[in-house]
Amino acid sequence: MNVQAFDLRDDDRRPPVDDLVGIVQRGLRSQPKRLPSWLFYDERGSELFEAICEQPEYYLTRCEIELMAIHAGEMADVVGPEVRLVEYGSGNAVKTRMLLEHLHAPVAYVPVEISPEPLRRCVQETSERFPSLAVQAHPGDFTRPLRLPIPPRAPRRTVLYFPGSTIGNFEAREAAELLRKMRGEMGDGGGILIGADLKKDTAVIEAAYNDRAGVTAEFTLNMLVRLNREIGSDFDLASFRHRAHYNAMAGRIETFLVSARDQKVRVGKQLVGFAADEAMQVEYSCKYSHEDFASLAAKAGLQIAHAWTDPESMFAVYYLVRAGAPKA
Ligand code: AVI
Repeated sequence: MNVQAFDLRDDDRRPPVDDLVGIVQRGLRSQPKRLPSWLFYDERGSELFEAICEQPEYYLTRCEIELMAIHAGEMADVVGPEVRLVEYGSGNAVKTRMLLEHLHAPVAYVPVEISPEPLRRCVQETSERFPSLAVQAHPGDFTRPLRLPIPPRAPRRTVLYFPGSTIGNFEAREAAELLRKMRGEMGDGGGILIGADLKKDTAVIEAAYNDRAGVTAEFTLNMLVRLNREIGSDFDLASFRHRAHYNAMAGRIETFLVSARDQKVRVGKQLVGFAADEAMQVEYSCKYSHEDFASLAAKAGLQIAHAWTDPESMFAVYYLVRAGAPKA
């Protein structure tokens, strides 16, 4: 295996438990109450997310894979030979593999991932599938500034790959900040290949976040399971419900944990009151038109150089370059 710098210690930027109590207490003091969506992704949460991707209603993964099956070759031509591919989140091996299969003489693949197990699996699978590719695992949080490992030889450009529409889980200002950070990391001649879920019929979007098998509901509630385990809170799981609805004005799915009754929950040394039907916001999943995405990119000093969609125009992958740079 051609694998470098693979150290699976827990990332030290992950908040320690003391901070986690503080983060949760602050979120529960805000009005309306809110908790950050990264709390979904403990080991069980990551498994449940994979299961969500298999649900018939969750079209995002299926459409992005279909898109990659049709267009990955053209994407590889657009980004050009000898790139260093840096993936934000080690993510779904299927899509990454489709891209790597078409890239011309890639210099290195750098998966950036905070959770040790998905990173380990990604490295193992990618190295087995592409034995001559340098895989430089980067344990850590991609929302923080990255110190990328030195590549085995000079790449022609660095391309950041951010599939899955995870950008949609950031509020507009944070999304622009993240893209601006990526703009710095890719360097002058670099680019960003990024997946984005497109606006469409409300019923189709809402069904994707309310699957009939209840996997998404379990994923949402698992956040409370995690908090009970990690900070000793006493959320009663039977007294909270998953609710996800599409806010058409804001262009996003808004997911809440809703209190089924009047209740008090212990979090650290505090008792937090919930009214019956009080909704605690836990995730946004933004949906875009091409114009929405172009204006988000522009806020980060980027422009869309290429856009690909699946045959039903459900999902898009954009290639972003620095604003003013030639579109390739
Ligand atoms: C990771 N992210 C793009 C997913 C989404 O669609 O917003 C997370 C998710 N939440 C509920 N279902 C899927």
